Amino acid sequence: MFVLRSRNCTKEENEAEPEEEIQEKVETSVFLKWMYLQQHWILRTILETSLFFIFSVTVLYLWPSKFTPVAYRFPDSPPLTGALQPNSELAKAKQGFKGELNGPEAIVSHEGVLYTGSADGKVLSIHNGEILVLAQFGPKNPCATKYYEEICGRPLGMAVSPFNGHLWVIDAIFGLYSVNMTTGEFKRKVSADQLIAGRYSKFFNDVSISPVNGRVYISDTSTKWRRTDFFVLGLETNPDGRILEYNPATGDLIEVCTGVSPNGIQITSDGSAILISDTSFATISKCQLIGKTRGKVEVVMKNMPGFPDNIRASPRGTHWVALTAVRQPTILIELVSPCPFLKEMIYKLSMIWKSELVRPVRDMIPKGSKPMNKKYGLIIEINEKGHVIRSLHDNSGKISSISHVQESEDGVLYLGSATNDYIGILQLS
Ligand SMILES: *[C@@H]1O[C@H](CO)[C@@H](O)[C@H](O)[C@H]1NC(C)=O
Repeated sequence: MFVLRSRNCTKEENEAEPEEEIQEKVETSVFLKWMYLQQHWILRTILETSLFFIFSVTVLYLWPSKFTPVAYRFPDSPPLTGALQPNSELAKAKQGFKGELNGPEAIVSHEGVLYTGSADGKVLSIHNGEILVLAQFGPKNPCATKYYEEICGRPLGMAVSPFNGHLWVIDAIFGLYSVNMTTGEFKRKVSADQLIAGRYSKFFNDVSISPVNGRVYISDTSTKWRRTDFFVLGLETNPDGRILEYNPATGDLIEVCTGVSPNGIQITSDGSAILISDTSFATISKCQLIGKTRGKVEVVMKNMPGFPDNIRASPRGTHWVALTAVRQPTILIELVSPCPFLKEMIYKLSMIWKSELVRPVRDMIPKGSKPMNKKYGLIIEINEKGHVIRSLHDNSGKISSISHVQESEDGVLYLGSATNDYIGILQLS
């Protein structure tokens, strides 16, 4: 404005205006007009965007879903001091069978043979460095890749029964099997089609066998979500899973512990209770199996330094716990956990993101994009009181995303993972 006015003043003084100056004046006024319109345009855009945003949030909020989030506040993660003091012990593990395995989630070491499952639905045995397919519960084809999980199954936890000498394997999709370790012959004992205490199981996860009576305990992580929905499960923090008890002598199957979302499980050596990894809550609970307190669940380890996966007894009466991811302030699930509304928005947006509708956008993202959180390997050994007595770290992330620690009688740790293409092997010092 000021410029225009001063120009007008000078105009009166000059009789004739040079042509360039007229040109300049026209340009200036066009520019100002444009600016003026532009301001409106910006305001309008802001208004429209806000309305669109409010509308979208309302629609998302009202859109019905089975997602029922509950507020859960994680305490600040424990300081890495004392028995949790960082070291590089885990980095000393070697990546065994690198490239020959696909997500060996759980591992059994029995009489010099390793048993594990793979993401393409196979139960494998490893002897003298040779990997063989022991059993495959689903069809052989098209199970070439893990993307056929619903059809091909996903063997997870396994344990050898001292009673019938069979390998018991839980498959996330299909259920519980007993497998003859010599011939690979298998029988299904529990199926996902069975209504158990009024609910169907959606996500079988781990198995543990009572050394006292041979009863087989199963963790049913959720009666709502699939294994592939583990992110949703962690976001919801509304436990709807349970521990089931199968009696091989009678075939009876009952629910023993509820109100949990159990991942790895390990029965105690006296068969009186079962330890449960609650991955979503970064805790370990204990459920009583006998007497008046049967079914009672209490937290024995709070605020863990990471999200626990499988838990297994060591030869010393302690337990190894694999932490599938360490606690980090940038972990989205932890940040939004106290806010159910935010969790619901994230869930619904993730549903849209996964839908066919946005496939073209999704495809634009380069494959193998680096995850936001730094990879950090961590496994811990705990005593019966739930105190950490030893921790092995890999700050470099070379050995990370660990789901299982199996210690053999001769002190070798075998480290499984739902996603790695190797078994970590570490001789304990
Ligand atoms: C496995 O199958 C073989 C052949 O049928 C049989 O001899 C053996 O006893 C079975 N093993 C167990 C532990 O039942």
